[in-house]
Amino acid sequence: MIIGVPKEIKNNENRVGATPAGVNELVRNGHTVYVQATAGEGSGFADEEYANAGATILPTIAEVYAIAEMIVKVKEPIESEYSLIKDNQLLFTYFHFASHEPLTKAMIERNAVCLAYETVERPDRSLPLLVPMSEVAGRMSIQEGAKYLEKPLKGRGILLGGVPGVRPAQVLILGGGVVGTNAAKMAAGMGADVTILDTNLARLRYLDDVLPANVTTQMSNGYVIRELVKTHDLIIGAVLIPGAKAPNLITRDMLKTMKPGTVLVDVAVDQGGCIETCKPTTHENPTFIIDDVVHYCVANMPGAVPFTSTQALTNATLPYVVQVANKGWKEACANSEELKKGLNVVNGKVVYKGVAEAFGLEYTDVNTVL
Ligand SMILES: NC(=O)c1ccc[n+]([C@@H]2O[C@H](COP(=O)([O-])OP(=O)(O)OC[C@H]3O[C@@H](n4cnc5c(N)ncnc54)[C@H](O)[C@@H]3O)[C@@H](O)[C@H]2O)c1
Repeated sequence: MIIGVPKEIKNNENRVGATPAGVNELVRNGHTVYVQATAGEGSGFADEEYANAGATILPTIAEVYAIAEMIVKVKEPIESEYSLIKDNQLLFTYFHFASHEPLTKAMIERNAVCLAYETVERPDRSLPLLVPMSEVAGRMSIQEGAKYLEKPLKGRGILLGGVPGVRPAQVLILGGGVVGTNAAKMAAGMGADVTILDTNLARLRYLDDVLPANVTTQMSNGYVIRELVKTHDLIIGAVLIPGAKAPNLITRDMLKTMKPGTVLVDVAVDQGGCIETCKPTTHENPTFIIDDVVHYCVANMPGAVPFTSTQALTNATLPYVVQVANKGWKEACANSEELKKGLNVVNGKVVYKGVAEAFGLEYTDVNTVL
């Protein structure tokens, strides 16, 4: 198959759809890979490395789209890319269609085949191509939180791990899933005093087994949260209710009960946030302050660490990309329930129920297009 890797052109997106190692794997499987010049620059990969791995470098995005049967990228195509998409071209990337009607309609109109990373789903309902970004965001939440606890950045001026003779910071994590567990590991490793809350008792049992002794697990409920926010220095929002807006676990009135300089990092901001006062922010301007409480609510946290994020993402996507390239999308999806769930829009038809429902579009059973 002929595979194209364009440079991401969405604002501040420095990740890339394939690493030189990924390109090499595709080439070894007998495929031809075209990479746009400087596509990997933001993630630390030079054109020369792609060329050495077996790719052909093309100077423009138009040439990559024109030659490729499958486009492998990171973010959804933006408006200026729509006209580059060819009839029947396969795109494998994050789409997040349900929150983007113009994109959905454009892909229908272009007669594209859209495989979305975010809806590839394992039989246990886990989302293997979302997990790596949650791992990055969870770990990063502590790094960012520790930074904003510094006095010049308007935090309490407390060192996360303390020092001998001085108590460490207290970190509260709401949600013990992928983000929360990764946050807990980092905070515990830095020596903080960590409490992690979840509503799932089986999950709390697991976390209690695997996390170090400076992490305490507690059942999540409104009463407990209201008490704990009064004493904690850094609070991480990491809850998810699949398919729904995040619940507001920290309400506006609770801010007044927190210590001045407390830092809130609402990682769940991309699902509406679990802290009432959180509104999405950007890497250029990540924080704002309400009632002396610092709010960090960046919706695309992994974008700040593209070197790590690109490799984490492509480690997860590559086996699927190879399957699709080897078999073609129809056979690959027909043989894999996981990949089949990734199909969202196929040749003008919406084959993912949630997307059709979001915009009142006609839904077509995915099996009829295979
Ligand atoms: N901002 C970013 O850049 C970024 C990056 C990656 C993920 N995220 C977001 O982070 C959030 C968490 O993702 P995840 O992968 O960890 O999800 P996950 O499904 O692995 O974990 C969510 C956890 O929240 C728990 N939960 C649900 N309701 C709760 C409640 N009331 N109190 C406490 N816990 C509760 C669940 O039991 C589950 O263990 C999602 O909204 C995801 O989209 C954001």
